[in-house]
This record gives sequence, structure tokens and C-alpha cells, in this order.
Amino acid sequence: MNHLPLEAVKFWVLPAQIAPGLDQRRNRYGVPRTHLHLDTLAVSDRQTGPFDLAGKVVVVTGASQGIGRELTFLLAEAGGVLVPTARSKAAADELRAEAATRGVTLHPVLLDVRRTSSIDSAVAEAVERHGRIDVLVNNAGLGHAHRALDVTESDFDEMMAVNLRGVFFMSQAVAREMIPRGGGRIIMISSQGGVVGLPAAAVYCASKGGVNMMTKVLALEWAEHGINVNAVAPTFIYTPGTAPLLDEPGLRDQILGKIPLRQLGSPADVAGAVVYLATEASRLVTGTVLMVDGGWTAQ
Ligand SMILES: NC(=O)c1ccc[n+]([C@@H]2O[C@H](COP(=O)([O-])OP(=O)(O)OC[C@H]3O[C@@H](n4cnc5c(N)ncnc54)[C@H](OP(=O)(O)O)[C@@H]3O)[C@@H](O)[C@H]2O)c1
Repeated sequence: MNHLPLEAVKFWVLPAQIAPGLDQRRNRYGVPRTHLHLDTLAVSDRQTGPFDLAGKVVVVTGASQGIGRELTFLLAEAGGVLVPTARSKAAADELRAEAATRGVTLHPVLLDVRRTSSIDSAVAEAVERHGRIDVLVNNAGLGHAHRALDVTESDFDEMMAVNLRGVFFMSQAVAREMIPRGGGRIIMISSQGGVVGLPAAAVYCASKGGVNMMTKVLALEWAEHGINVNAVAPTFIYTPGTAPLLDEPGLRDQILGKIPLRQLGSPADVAGAVVYLATEASRLVTGTVLMVDGGWTAQ
């Protein structure tokens, strides 16, 4: 096996003496985490694929349509064993049937993230079938626009129940399964609206800002359990659901005018970020919000 030359990597070492008291457990190469000499990583080990999802059990919530649906198929193409969730049996059956036409076998589970009983049974079903969950993608979300003066109590509660409360309890339930198995990855599908204000979206932006903060705190709390928690924050993504809006020439031009790269996002743009955050390539990344916004929030 070829090893990287020590000279090439000697500066990438974190001596225990400058990080006293840090976790002294060994990583999977048998190296204490505080002495991670990259020269010990065999090139062939590295070639098992830093971006390789092969065999990883990946739960994607809200996969009946939109980004979640596309993510399911893109992550399956990247080698993941996908467990999409849907709210109705009809949507689950439809997903299974489409998967069959694409040569993919899927076993969707039913999930309504507003109810912890539904979360518990969905997580139990996924673990019973696949033995574990390696990656959770918290994608399910509502994106209704409301002018602040028109927001009702039920609009507010519904948005928070799905976008914030649902994300929290889904993460908690999955983390409880990941911890005894040595960890995993939790990825939130947040939004640029969690970082900058969007008109007519006070509640949505508040929910996604909350998701971003939750990401940081869960990352801190669960680091010791080997769970990396990160968020992907996209700009406007073109899906069948958003197409009518984004095809309106006036609005489209207005949006493109705010995106320095002058392109709308696609589900593949989100999938690329998710693959990175789900694989060994990002093993040292946690508590971050990865903007996939063509530069909108860089301004
Ligand atoms: N599209 C964009 O431009 C964009 C931009 C930035 C961020 N995002 C974020 O990306 C995620 C997906 O957005 P999208 O545009 O693909 O939305 P979408 O087309 O409306 O799909 C939302 C998904 O969430 C599911 N869902 C809704 N309420 C749920 C609940 N109570 N329990 C479980 N699942 C539920 C929906 O299931 P049903 O079919 O049963 O309703 C659907 O599968 C959201 O978190 C959104 O905030 C989207």
C-alpha cells in the first residue's frame, strides 16, 4: 500500500500538548484523534472514496416531491441505500413505482414530522429494515409566503411545526439510533432565508434561521458521539413545485439579478452539497451552514 510521504503532511498534525484534554479515543485507523498523522492514511484507503456513499443508509424526509424526491434519486445514483419518507401511502407507492422504472429499489416509510409518534415509528421502521441510519437529510419543509400583517396563528404554528420542531425531533430520534452505532451525519436543508431576509417570509426565514442555530448546537452536543451536523442553505431551486413562480419572467429576472452567478439552483446543486456532507470528504466539518446560493448572501 502506498502511503503519503510524511514531509507532505507533517504540518497537518495536532499534537496532544496543544489540545490537552481532547478526546483520546482512536480513529478507525487506530490513530488517537489528537494525533491524526495523515501519513498513516494509506492511499488505497483514501481511494475507497472520500465522496463515496456506497452502502450508506440515507433517510431523506419529505421525498414525495420537489427537492426531496430528486435528492432521493441523485443520492441513490451516488451509491446510497435510500429511505425516502412520504406522508401518504399513495405518495409512498408512487415513489416506489417510479424507482422501479429507474431500476432502483426503494422502501419509503410514512412520516409526518409534526407528530413525534410518527417520527418514532418511521425511524424504527428504517432501522428494522436496514439495521442502522448513517445519514439523515432533514428536507421536509413548508415554504408558504405570507405578508407579516396577514400571518395567522395557524400559519405560524404550522410552519414552525414542520420546519423547526419537526427537524429537531427527527434529529433527536435519529441521533438516539446513531449514538450506540458510533455516529453518523445529520444534514439540514435550510435556506438562504435563514441568513438574509426575504420579503413576505418572516416566519419562513425565522424557522430557517432557527434551523441554522440548531445545527450549530447539535453539532457541539453530538460531536463526542461522532455525529456531524451541518446545513445546506440553497437559493431558489427550480423544481416542479417552484417552476410556475420561477418561470414568471419578471420575478425570474428579479431573482437572477440578486444571484451573482446568474443561475437558479437545481436539485443537483443541493445533492452535490449533501453528498459532500454525507461522506468522509467532510469528516472535519460540523456545525456549518453551506451556502448553495450562487453568491446571493456574499453581497
Ligand atoms: N425550492 C426552493 O427554492 C428551496 C430553496 C431553499 C430551501 N428549500 C428547502 O428545501 C426543502 C424542500 O423544498 P421543496 O421546494 O422541495 O418543497 P416542496 O416541493 O413543497 O416539498 C416539500 C416536501 O416536504 C414534505 N412535507 C411537508 N409537510 C410535511 C410534514 N408535516 N411531514 C413530513 N413531510 C412533510 C412534503 O410532503 P407532502 O407532499 O405530503 O406535502 C414534500 O415532500 C424545504 O425544507 C425548503 O424550505 C427550498
